[in-house]
Amino acid sequence: MSINEILNRIGPSTSSGTLTHEEIKLLLAAEGDDKKLLFDKALQVKLAHLDNFVHLRGLIEYSNVCTKYCLYCGVRSKNPNFERYTLSDEEVIECAKLAHELGYGSVALQSGERSDAAFVDKITHLVKEIKKIDNGSLGITLSLGEQTEETYRRWFEAGAHRYLLRIEASNEDLYYKIHPRDAKHDFKTRLNCIDSLLKVGYQTGTGVMVGLPFQTLDDLADDLLFFKKKDVAMVGMGPFIPHPDTPLWQYRDQIPSAEKRMELTLKMIATLRLMMPEINMVAATANQTVDPQGREKAIAAGANVIMPNLTPNEFRENYLIYPDKACVSDKPDQCQTCLDVRLAAIGHKVLYNAWGDSVAFTKKHH
Ligand code: 5AD
Ligand code: FES
Repeated sequence: MSINEILNRIGPSTSSGTLTHEEIKLLLAAEGDDKKLLFDKALQVKLAHLDNFVHLRGLIEYSNVCTKYCLYCGVRSKNPNFERYTLSDEEVIECAKLAHELGYGSVALQSGERSDAAFVDKITHLVKEIKKIDNGSLGITLSLGEQTEETYRRWFEAGAHRYLLRIEASNEDLYYKIHPRDAKHDFKTRLNCIDSLLKVGYQTGTGVMVGLPFQTLDDLADDLLFFKKKDVAMVGMGPFIPHPDTPLWQYRDQIPSAEKRMELTLKMIATLRLMMPEINMVAATANQTVDPQGREKAIAAGANVIMPNLTPNEFRENYLIYPDKACVSDKPDQCQTCLDVRLAAIGHKVLYNAWGDSVAFTKKHH
């Protein structure tokens, strides 16, 4: 079967959902003209379903304190090479107010993973405080790792309505090649957490890193089928970026080049857009780290969300999940002008002052 035949089967405004594992693999392997056809089709499908709007989430990196030690992550607890910080309540609220003033419509609160009672209470408090800004006008996404269903429920009731928890790798064997095999990094727990989030009623987002050591095209095809099976509302995927202070650094010569990881990420985004035309898909910052035009390329290939960083600049250099993270020294207002201009250049526009909920989720629940 040719790429053309697969793509022609998918109408611009119908939900296909019928791609098989083999077809997905063919799309992920597309090169040259075929690759261009895939990106064009994904853009066409996105525009038909979601128009040319891009939604913003002001990203607040609340704390780099983490109790886990994933083998890829620069802020793992076993990395002593930088300072740990936690923002004060005032700093978080200031960031959220800034997001509101800039018209972002939503904030995303992200942090290293902790699940102690003090942390759970603190987040509950912060969510309520953010909700008070202009009578609940800001949407709130949380990205705070694995928690009990009860904790997820508390935060939902406090006012958070979206949650991101990447599965990182939906193949259990691969999962344990990038996480320690211990109780703290249990694959089943992670799956259960995603199910809890869906059950509690969050617009649930998940995702994977692309270009991991040991990762195959079969794994990536299965990742996309996993998102589809879980019927998630949001997906975030970005290229894996080896960090020198992590165990996976030793495999840096055994993974595809940065350019190839970027390309593969774009093909993952484009293919998923064909499979799930109405979900929210983020153009991850990791894309921009690998390629200065990475986020725009992700938008042009089917993504529709960008998360500009609002963390106070003095803390950003300590939230280096991966090295050379983009925009570490940008000021928020610079970011805004830069984004508007960059997106206009590719025929897209930011939808300001809106929550930008997942259309897939909204349709399913109303
Ligand atoms: N390269 C790329 N992405 C990474 N993440 C963590 N470490 C890396 C890395 N080295 C991603 C994970 C996590 C998200 C917050 O950042 O997918 O879910
Ligand atoms: Fe912090 Fe993975 S290292 S959750």
